[in-house]
Amino acid sequence: MNIAILGASWGDEGKGHITHHFSKSYDWVVRFNGGANAGHTIYRDGKKFVHNLMPSVDFRVPQLKAYLGSGMVIDVFKLLEEVKSAEESFPGSASRIYVDKNAFMVLAHHKDLDAANNAHIGSTNRGIGPAYAEKIGRKGFRIRDFFNTMSEPKYSDPIREMTKLGVNFVDLLDVREEMSREKILFEGAQGVLLDINHGIYPYVSCSDCTIGGIYSSGFNFAPPKKVYGVAKCYTTKVGEGPFPTECEETEAVSLRERGNEYGATTGRPRRIGWLDLPALNYACKMGGITNLIITKIDILSGMEEIPVCNVYSKPVTSSKDFFTAEPQYVKMRGWSTHSKADQKIGDFAMKYDYQPELYEFIALVEKSTGCPVDYISKGTSELDIVPFDTK
Ligand code: IMP
Ligand code: MG
Repeated sequence: MNIAILGASWGDEGKGHITHHFSKSYDWVVRFNGGANAGHTIYRDGKKFVHNLMPSVDFRVPQLKAYLGSGMVIDVFKLLEEVKSAEESFPGSASRIYVDKNAFMVLAHHKDLDAANNAHIGSTNRGIGPAYAEKIGRKGFRIRDFFNTMSEPKYSDPIREMTKLGVNFVDLLDVREEMSREKILFEGAQGVLLDINHGIYPYVSCSDCTIGGIYSSGFNFAPPKKVYGVAKCYTTKVGEGPFPTECEETEAVSLRERGNEYGATTGRPRRIGWLDLPALNYACKMGGITNLIITKIDILSGMEEIPVCNVYSKPVTSSKDFFTAEPQYVKMRGWSTHSKADQKIGDFAMKYDYQPELYEFIALVEKSTGCPVDYISKGTSELDIVPFDTK
């Protein structure tokens, strides 16, 4: 069964960690949107890795392949770095990386344009907006335009080097049959609230962060049966724009430190707020999300009360309503993931003694979104991603 893992808020929900763990049961992990603006943090054997372009595949698993889809905009220099680093850790992994020749390229002037024009959005300055603008304006360059050309060595050299290392530059039709026989995990980048169509425009990124991005990248033949939305048990955002449940800085500081809430790509301190259920509900509806995964449960552990926004004073009918939202809060009882019993049972953390307070919190998420929460994550180890059932 194919699945998708999407960001259910403003990105940085922990998709990389979840994808990496789930990827073991799949044959492909496919990225279909965005570019090196993404920063997907993976913890492997106790070490931290950040992927910007590369899907969060677990290269320790021999059958696993990575696909960079046509909906992406690719900085080939950055990709070459990531390919080399994958090769270093896992020799032979380059030949398990596939890049769609219809993906567009991020060129040097795109980054310059970002830096000059998009500070008011809080852009990551990775050239994403300008690359997509040229694509839509029918002036863009695709990977295929630099493939095997000698005339543009600046951009064709890194592509040639990747080819030598074993990377496969393909058309989707070349691998469609193989893929349709195999299992695919689609890994979204950013989050639904940053989606170009359904995010909080103009404070958005420029790609399709919803289930729609999978189809526009050509994967009509492989629809995901389950679409997981990943959300933290609180909220963060980098960049400008409305953030209804944002905390006062005095409150934000300690959560930012505890949760290490600094941009994986830019290092910027993230803005911090409480869980925003009307926004999460909006993201589920517009993103095509069917099931949820709630992450960073450990970060709120030990708090006596946890504020959660359960409604705004007016219902959300479109993304414009986030500009004027007046959040109302309920105080939920806090939980503790660091109980002695939990530590003692170690590997048996799967059987982790769920507390009624955590059940109440998760049940409220389910009620507000209509989506079951299938997993929670309470740390950076794979064992910390555990199935959860409120029934
Ligand atoms: P851009 O995509 O770099 O132009 O950035 C547009 C907006 O999206 C800015 O507010 C960025 O901070 C935000 N953004 C882009 N990519 C990510 C991401 O992967 N995680 C979180 N925020 C992101
Ligand atoms: Mg990130």
